[in-house]
Amino acid sequence: MNILITGGAGYIGSHLAKQLLELTSNKITILDNLSTGSKKTLDTLASIREFNFIKLDLKEFDDVFNVLDSNKFDVIVHFAASIVVPESVENPLKYYMNNTVNTTNLIKCATQTGVKKFIFSSTAAVYGEPKDMPTSGINEDFLTSPINPYGMSKLMSERVLQDASKATDNFKYVIFRYFNVAGADIHYENDDLKPRIGQSFPKATHLIKIASECAVGKREKMAIFGNDFDTPDSTGVRDYIHVDDLASAHINAIEYLDNNESDIFNLGYGKGFSVKEVIDTMKTVTKKDFVVDIAPRRAGDPAILIADNSKYKQKFAYKKAPLFNYDNIELICKSTYEWENQLN
Ligand code: UD1
Repeated sequence: MNILITGGAGYIGSHLAKQLLELTSNKITILDNLSTGSKKTLDTLASIREFNFIKLDLKEFDDVFNVLDSNKFDVIVHFAASIVVPESVENPLKYYMNNTVNTTNLIKCATQTGVKKFIFSSTAAVYGEPKDMPTSGINEDFLTSPINPYGMSKLMSERVLQDASKATDNFKYVIFRYFNVAGADIHYENDDLKPRIGQSFPKATHLIKIASECAVGKREKMAIFGNDFDTPDSTGVRDYIHVDDLASAHINAIEYLDNNESDIFNLGYGKGFSVKEVIDTMKTVTKKDFVVDIAPRRAGDPAILIADNSKYKQKFAYKKAPLFNYDNIELICKSTYEWENQLN
């Protein structure tokens, strides 16, 4: 198979690229503008096995068409996007251009050049701020009601993809709505966990990355955003999924579309950890202490976001192998820390 990964130099895309290079003999092409993705990551991937790299911004429509037309990809896995929620509120047009407009063009080029499968990274942000979280978590039929341009730019792209697929013969999709992705490459050297790739984005906003920066001493302290939520310990609860499990789901999806119809799946483990629990876990697994202040709630942060992942588990049960290998908050924190440590 001939597979294109957009955003393959970025955090999640590089973990999929790693697995495809290590575990399969597919021909892999990474397309990335390197705005947030890293050259070092590409070098690490190249040490696994050869792949094509094309430095290109998806806004270059003619060039994108030419790349797709000359390569005749079977599959596109589309990660390239802007992903910082507060930035999307300040600069919504950047998000509608980079995410919705560029994705629409990519889909158009895909349908025109015979691509058969399109795997799209979407987000739990499409569900917005759920008022009544079902105890079983949020399923794919839950009302979509994004509260920021980031979530809306992804929801609009989902719709474009669904409509294009309906109107195009032999063009199927899987849309994954990610909950909180965290962790780094599970790779051991002499029994020591030594991630080769991870999240390199310099201005961290995500909880586990920030806690790991405190643990390695890059950051003096951090804050818990709100301790007055209606949750067991009064801090926000999220469903953290290891990036390697998330990446594997994309490989499963490519195979799934051989015998199944297009669909949407939530990706999370279906269980929540509070901000306090995550910070305590980071301190315990790294044996490092750091200062944690209490700060006001961050605008737009729901109290609890947990995936109902039963649809993914049920539809992929035929694989008869574990769908999740790293459902372990300690390992998520430890791998993030070890990655951060070697970035120093
Ligand atoms: C965010 C986005 C979400 C996106 C996801 C992945 C928002 C509202 N949500 O999820 O749409 O899909 O990233 O890109 O921006 N926290 C602290 N202190 C910190 C950092 C975070 O207490 O220094 C808390 C947050 O308030 C939250 C939890 O930790 O309760 C997780 O936050 P974060 O890692 O930023 O992810 P989300 O906001 O859940």
